Amino acid sequence: MIAIRRARPSDAAAIGAVHVATWRSAYAGVLPEEYLAGLSAMRHAGGYQQAIADRRDGHAIFVAVASGTDAPPGLDGRDGGVVIGFVSGGRARRPGLGQGEVETLYVLDDYRERGIGRRLMRAMAAHLAAVGCRSVMLWVLEANPTRWFYLRLGGRPVARESIRFAGLALDQLAFAWDPIDTLLAATAPAREG
Ligand SMILES: CC(C)(COP(=O)(O)OP(=O)(O)OC[C@H]1O[C@@H](n2cnc3c(N)ncnc32)[C@H](O)[C@@H]1OP(=O)(O)O)[C@@H](O)C(=O)NCCC(=O)NCCS
Repeated sequence: MIAIRRARPSDAAAIGAVHVATWRSAYAGVLPEEYLAGLSAMRHAGGYQQAIADRRDGHAIFVAVASGTDAPPGLDGRDGGVVIGFVSGGRARRPGLGQGEVETLYVLDDYRERGIGRRLMRAMAAHLAAVGCRSVMLWVLEANPTRWFYLRLGGRPVARESIRFAGLALDQLAFAWDPIDTLLAATAPAREG
């Protein structure tokens, strides 16, 4: 079974591990190898621990937890299941493109294309709507094929900008859903396979 729930402080280590594993796979060939090799699950876990506790600006993290036969081999007996994906977000860090922002969304490679990304996006959209956001946006690197996932969920490209990251000049795209109900509709449970 795959369940989606709000993250707890005890999830921070697992979230840090998912962050590092998905970055190494999603950004291979996009970000420098030394940068990806140097990512530390423990360091990221510390950041996520703080983020889980700090609920300012409508911030929230939701995790996808696999248990029973859906758990990774050898870990099916672990109490409460295993974190295999997560989404984080809150009120938009910059004004202008949307009231809410999805800051991160990651699902482990072995769990892709099973509707988990869509369920995590729904949890975040419902949360952001509940804290008063009437629209939502996110940034994605243009080189990241994930932009097709956001288009599939009805996201509208609304901005492009160049950033410097890991010593490189990279282009990123912003997608928006305005009103936020368009994202809630695109991620409605009836659409899950
Ligand atoms: C993006 C991501 C979270 C999607 O998660 P997922 O669980 O595989 O997505 P879902 O199964 O819910 O897919 C929903 C729909 O999008 C489509 N889709 C998913 N990934 C896609 C991709 N890379 N390209 C095109 N379509 C995609 C699915 O086919 C599905 O279509 P459907 O409407 O026909 O069912 C996952 O691929 C991921 O973690 N990627 C790497 C990390 C990353 O880049 N994160 C985003 C940083 S901004």
